[in-house]
Amino acid sequence: MSGVADDTAVVVDQVSKKFRLFHERNQTLKSAVMRRRRIVADDFWAVRNVSFEVPQGETFGLIGRNGSSKSTLLKTLARIYVPDEGRVVMNGRVSSMLEVGSGFHPELSGRENIFLNGSILGLTRKQVTARFDEIVDFSGVETFIDQPVKNYSSGMYVRLGVAVAVHTDPDILIVDEILSVGDGAFIEKSRKKFLEFTGQGRTIILVSHSLPQVREMCHQVAWLDGGRLRAVGPTDEVVAAYGASIEAESS
Ligand SMILES: Nc1ncnc2c1ncn2[C@@H]1O[C@H](COP(=O)(O)OP(=O)(O)OP(=O)(O)O)[C@@H](O)[C@H]1O
Ligand SMILES: [Mg+2]
Repeated sequence: MSGVADDTAVVVDQVSKKFRLFHERNQTLKSAVMRRRRIVADDFWAVRNVSFEVPQGETFGLIGRNGSSKSTLLKTLARIYVPDEGRVVMNGRVSSMLEVGSGFHPELSGRENIFLNGSILGLTRKQVTARFDEIVDFSGVETFIDQPVKNYSSGMYVRLGVAVAVHTDPDILIVDEILSVGDGAFIEKSRKKFLEFTGQGRTIILVSHSLPQVREMCHQVAWLDGGRLRAVGPTDEVVAAYGASIEAESS
């Protein structure tokens, strides 16, 4: 890709993303009745001027408080959102497991969702069929594979989502907080799979609130604060700085 080194998997270049927030301007019942409803919209810049690069074969962590725009940034990388400013370059095939509730159709069974997701991620029916058993096996939800996923527990849901995402041959895997929902055995299984991935030169971008997990898994980390990049760099330094800020605020 032009202007991007071959060994760079992801380039986030001065990215900003805004949402429109709608407000009802009438403050009293009388003004609401007397005047027509006035709905006004303000721009809310959720992500502001964020830049970093992720080398191929590394696990990159995003940390920050609730509402700091980690998920919004991940969705921008997954092309669910288009940045309002700046650019994102993803050097390869992207597969993502975002928050619980996204990605699957609730009324469809686990089996149907595997095929649906596989095709969304660019696999043929034949390719999905060939990987089907492996996906179900990794997920551990075989008993429930023909039940609609709306009846799955949140852990089961995440297990199936991760199983699909890791078996669709991505160059770049994007995962949002999955490890906070899975049980110990699944976290361990995922951790091993992620190690295998990076060993193969694939790249992982993950969000987690578990700092021990981030320390263990990530080569580099970006700390988001109010949608801005507060720090980016080697995991130990950035996690220590974030940890200190939490400590300072909660004491
Ligand atoms: N579709 C949307 N429309 C309007 N505002 C949104 C939308 N999605 C997110 N936001 C706002 O953007 C901000 C960042 O939300 P986001 O979900 O990215 O945070 P987060 O860092 O992932 O938080 P958490 O740790 O709780 O998962 C919040 O203020 C949220 O209300
Ligand atoms: Mg989030």
